[in-house]
Amino acid sequence: MTEVRHPIFARLYARFSADEEAKGGAELRDELLAGLAGRVMEVGAGHGLNFAHYPTAVTEVVAIEPEPHLRELASEAAARAPVPVTVVDGVADSLPLPDDSCDAAVCSLVLCSVADRDAALAEVRRVLRPGGELRFYEHVLADTPGLARVQRVLNVVHPFLAGGCHITRDTEAAIERAGFEIVRIRRFRFAPMLPSKHVSPKILGTARLPS
Ligand SMILES: C[S@@+](CC[C@H](N)C(=O)[O-])C[C@H]1O[C@@H](n2cnc3c(N)ncnc32)[C@H](O)[C@@H]1O
Repeated sequence: MTEVRHPIFARLYARFSADEEAKGGAELRDELLAGLAGRVMEVGAGHGLNFAHYPTAVTEVVAIEPEPHLRELASEAAARAPVPVTVVDGVADSLPLPDDSCDAAVCSLVLCSVADRDAALAEVRRVLRPGGELRFYEHVLADTPGLARVQRVLNVVHPFLAGGCHITRDTEAAIERAGFEIVRIRRFRFAPMLPSKHVSPKILGTARLPS
């Protein structure tokens, strides 16, 4: 299995993401997960910021997290979650789950960080049942030329400084390329922390597999 180990980024993310949550991030996670039910897989769950936001109709969350420090924190968050959450080691391009075994998948701020996004989405597709849905909340390439230019320049170093995170990805196109139909998408800017404008263009929505 590919090793994902970003000890410094993991500690910074766990610390500073709390601020983003307090400034509107928590509401976005509510929106991301509203209406989910059944068995859900979360890819790259980090330290478990989504866990508190799962609706009680969700019967089980399998949260996959490869980074050891974040996985440890996620296990602690799982114990406080309103629904049963199992945290497991694993990577997106080789998910440790059988075919057709989940009703829904959640990717939040993770498709920027996986090395091979197409392989990850093919795996999500394999693990979801026919008609299953993917909930996504991701930062993407800006649709304005000025910010997109800044992102392209920063992206030369960004993945090395931020746990492999790329800031120039067109994730909506990748989701469609993987065979999902986008049924709802909201594009907006969100960057409550001053030095984070380069990750402000966001997409949040639902995509579905054919039945
Ligand atoms: C910015 S954090 C987001 C964490 C969490 N999803 C959230 O919404 O707060 C990016 C996450 O992607 C994870 N990640 C990086 N490469 C991965 C891979 N190949 N497979 C699965 N997760 C990965 C990191 O360990 C980290 O937890």
